[in-house]
Amino acid sequence: MSSLADKRLLLGISGGIAAYKSADLVRRLKDRGAQVRVVMSAGAREFVQPLTFQALSGNPVHTDLLDPAAEAAMGHIELAKWAELILIAPASAQVMAKLACGMADDLLTTLCLASEAPVALAPAMNQAMWRHPATAVNAQTLRERGVQLWGPAAGSQACGDVGPGRMLEPADLAQQAESLLSGSSDCLRGKSVVITAGPTREALDPVRYLSNHSSGKMGFALAEAAQRAGAQVTLIAGPVNLATPAQVKRVDVVDARDMRAAAERAADLCDIFIGAAAVADFRPATMAEQKIKKREGCDESAIALVKNPDIVAGIAARSQRRPFTVGFAAETQQVEHYAQDKLQRKNLDMIIANDVSSTNSGFNSDRNAVTVIDRHSSTHLPQALKADLARQLIEIIAAKAQP
Ligand code: C5P
Repeated sequence: MSSLADKRLLLGISGGIAAYKSADLVRRLKDRGAQVRVVMSAGAREFVQPLTFQALSGNPVHTDLLDPAAEAAMGHIELAKWAELILIAPASAQVMAKLACGMADDLLTTLCLASEAPVALAPAMNQAMWRHPATAVNAQTLRERGVQLWGPAAGSQACGDVGPGRMLEPADLAQQAESLLSGSSDCLRGKSVVITAGPTREALDPVRYLSNHSSGKMGFALAEAAQRAGAQVTLIAGPVNLATPAQVKRVDVVDARDMRAAAERAADLCDIFIGAAAVADFRPATMAEQKIKKREGCDESAIALVKNPDIVAGIAARSQRRPFTVGFAAETQQVEHYAQDKLQRKNLDMIIANDVSSTNSGFNSDRNAVTVIDRHSSTHLPQALKADLARQLIEIIAAKAQP
């Protein structure tokens, strides 16, 4: 039986072109067994007719706060109490702004204030609107208040722009709803978890560095999932452009040596250490104090490199205060073979192997597919959103890390 069977899901639709995709979302939620009631803002009704959602959900669509007919049947307070999850998809910049400051000037925003159900938003807007500092502050305020933000994805937009702001696909949203409602587990209650994430930057001179394409998304998703599973989380982040998950302690670092120092300090008191960072293997042997200049007649140049410390291997080599230690293996070929080798060589308890050769998975993508390998078993987790994968990984890590 689907884990959305008979779950009561209130789908809020705000104004945006992505509203047409919400019709597919209703179908997918219904296919998974959910009871769906739809609330549309005035803006949403400019894009899609309520009748579409009435036909798909099998329930009347709610539009007005002060509707005598609705109050006789299911008024806003009953709706607020009925919902087990409020999902707003698409969530416009406007609805996010209203929710961030607690406004209740229409049915949808009033419901969000009146309900004790979890609220999830699937933001959808023009990339400049998403990047605007006002929206960024609103998003962070909502996150800190426990509202889940699913997406947005990056890519080409209906307006012709390219960038972040696309609503996640209906199948992904339905999967997120299912994961959330299938019961948030407490599997890390009382545990302390340290996670490294993102790239490191190894300075060559005051203006140049060596680095890699890691976005940090997987490590941040793991931090959020671990926190939701009850852990106290310290996230040691290289230079990334990501918001800190709610109630996670973040330590920002730049290069591998800073990251190691922060990791060693934090690991002293932790139960689980997850090395999700893409640490630069080498750094320039020296950092020039001034910007390196081109030299007349010199068409070639070489940079001497020295090896960086292996952070995760250092933690796993401890004889005392050694946490359950998990590493990542991002490979472009013979993924499992190299991952097994790394597991042994670095003395890890578990390694999460992913294939970064494909462009729609792995580095800098919102999705990933991984194989989890420990000394006794290997489990493949098929491609999913990193947030969803993170939840599955945290469950597996929590089960294996039991003393
Ligand atoms: O050897 P490789 O870089 O492929 O190993 C990847 C794993 O090792 C990841 O968990 C990464 O965070 C960790 N690592 C590290 N310090 C390094 C290099 C990798 O912690 N210098």
